[in-house]
Amino acid sequence: MKLCKTVAELRTEVALAKVAGRSIGLVPTMGALHEGHGSLIAAARKENELVIVSVFVNPTQFGPGEDLDAYPRTLEADCLLAEQMGADIVFAPTPKEMYPSEDMTWVEVTGDITKVLCGHSRPIHFCGVTTVVSKLFNLAQPDWAYFGQKDAQQVQVIKRMVKDLFFNVQLRIMPIVREADGLAKSSRNTYLSPEERKAGLVLSRSLRQAEALFQQGERDGAELVEVVREMIAAEPLSEIDYVEIYALPDLTPLAGKIAGPCLLAVAVRFGTTRLIDNIILEGA
Ligand code: PAF
Repeated sequence: MKLCKTVAELRTEVALAKVAGRSIGLVPTMGALHEGHGSLIAAARKENELVIVSVFVNPTQFGPGEDLDAYPRTLEADCLLAEQMGADIVFAPTPKEMYPSEDMTWVEVTGDITKVLCGHSRPIHFCGVTTVVSKLFNLAQPDWAYFGQKDAQQVQVIKRMVKDLFFNVQLRIMPIVREADGLAKSSRNTYLSPEERKAGLVLSRSLRQAEALFQQGERDGAELVEVVREMIAAEPLSEIDYVEIYALPDLTPLAGKIAGPCLLAVAVRFGTTRLIDNIILEGA
């Protein structure tokens, strides 16, 4: 496996692959890789001849007071895991390499899709995500790019960007990978104290409960939100950022009962750690 730290190195590898007619799979990550990322890399390995994993803690998607400095940086371990899962290249640029100048171009998806849910408490987040993902798409020129369903809003925003900007890439969205007890895998889980981690299980528990009610025929979105909200609020270590439901794909408010696919998503703080989780309710 090759480690590329510069744009020039990556471009050389990509150019060689293109000349040889090899298909390229890209797995964009911020590092601190876990089994969730592993599942993306494994899927990319199955479907492509060259697999590139980017490891870049992207400063532009962190707002003031967020965890940019504390975000775990574990490049050596990331390279090992990426290699084990079948990556050919890890692209790990510095911030200066990705953002050489302070005068820069932003890529922004506008509308409800970036304003609701995480967009409400993290107003610049998705603009940072779409900007860096555009840069990565342009550099790696992937045939396929792999994202995790845990970041459900990010998935919808990137789908929109790809459609609107005619990016010539197919997106593969992989299911949420969970710990045995239900906690969604996240690089941020390492911040949790044992008590906070135990309290965090309420997220998957409450979403499972909503899913069960939905399967039993409940179609009132507000009712499902209330069930989840009450279960989470009953956990003393939790501080709810949001529990909300929106219609897919554009995250528009539900008009009446659930009639098509929708996203029930939560963001909750446990101490200083903000966890997100979600389920998709397939409607009808
Ligand atoms: O999901 C992430 O880890 C990041 O938001 C991404 C897509 C790698 C962009 O920095």
